[in-house]
Amino acid sequence: MPSETYEITANAKINLFLRVNGTLPNGYHRLYTVMQEIACSDQISVTLDDTRKGFRINCIGRSDIDPKKNLCRKACDRFYSNMKKIRKDFKPPYTEIELIKNIPSESGMGGGSSDAAAILLVLQEHFGNPFEEEQLLRIAVNVGADVPFFLYGGTALCEKVGEDVTTIGSLAGLGVLIAKPDAGVSTPECFALIDKEPVKPFDDKAYAEYIESLKAPVKSSSEILEKIVRGGDLLVNDLEAPAVKLIPEIDNIRKALIESGGAYCRMTGSGSAVFALFENLEDAALAKERAKKDPVLSKCNLILAETV
Ligand code: C5P
Repeated sequence: MPSETYEITANAKINLFLRVNGTLPNGYHRLYTVMQEIACSDQISVTLDDTRKGFRINCIGRSDIDPKKNLCRKACDRFYSNMKKIRKDFKPPYTEIELIKNIPSESGMGGGSSDAAAILLVLQEHFGNPFEEEQLLRIAVNVGADVPFFLYGGTALCEKVGEDVTTIGSLAGLGVLIAKPDAGVSTPECFALIDKEPVKPFDDKAYAEYIESLKAPVKSSSEILEKIVRGGDLLVNDLEAPAVKLIPEIDNIRKALIESGGAYCRMTGSGSAVFALFENLEDAALAKERAKKDPVLSKCNLILAETV
């Protein structure tokens, strides 16, 4: 087949909690986090043409994104260079990517990583599954720390840089209200700040028990929410303090979201987006209406989504 086009949807994520557990020899940080896929997505169209050479990427409506630094491009480069290692006669096809971005950048919602993972999955399918799961995970983490999670989606515990992914029971069907201030957080800057504070060791056993409790099946969204809220003091985001140093507004946003009735409120990833969880989408939609009248939240980009 000379030319094939794939239309794909790439969902965002939130981090229910995120612990930073020291640094690794490569300077990256050892993470312990639960990521949750949410139905807020970018749309991607990928055309692969074996009869031509070249690469084109068009990010519709977003002139601020440098196509050369786009993670979709990095995903293709890494996939194709690994293909050359296993198939000596491999020639990268002409690749054209059209990207409609809805997930805000520098928000901690993993937009670029999700796009990149979606591309890796398309290429893996197009070329007849050339890589084993472990190999694909290695390619993914070399594209970006959050990319391995998006190969699976749903709810997952992610460890080390992000490549140790353990999917856990479904937390689907909750309402999510996200407030993203105009200012974004640079992830490397945020991690650099955390290095200046002593890292608090954490109790592995308490987390292991909590993660086990997340795996148990539940019947209703109120039970799901109850499970998450039960995590209480365990469920901190260690990147929140450095992110607040960079953008103090994040702290006010979190307080305002709690006021708006969110049962559980955290910054996601390295920020700057803050989310609140509700039993269902209707409750989150009502909170969004209230948020539009709030002096702090009304200045933010307010996004409504559901956990997947
Ligand atoms: O892998 P990615 O490019 O998404 O990571 C962005 C930055 O976040 C890295 O340059 C690094 O500074 C930091 N990071 C880290 N430890 C991780 C993940 C990311 O230090 N586990």
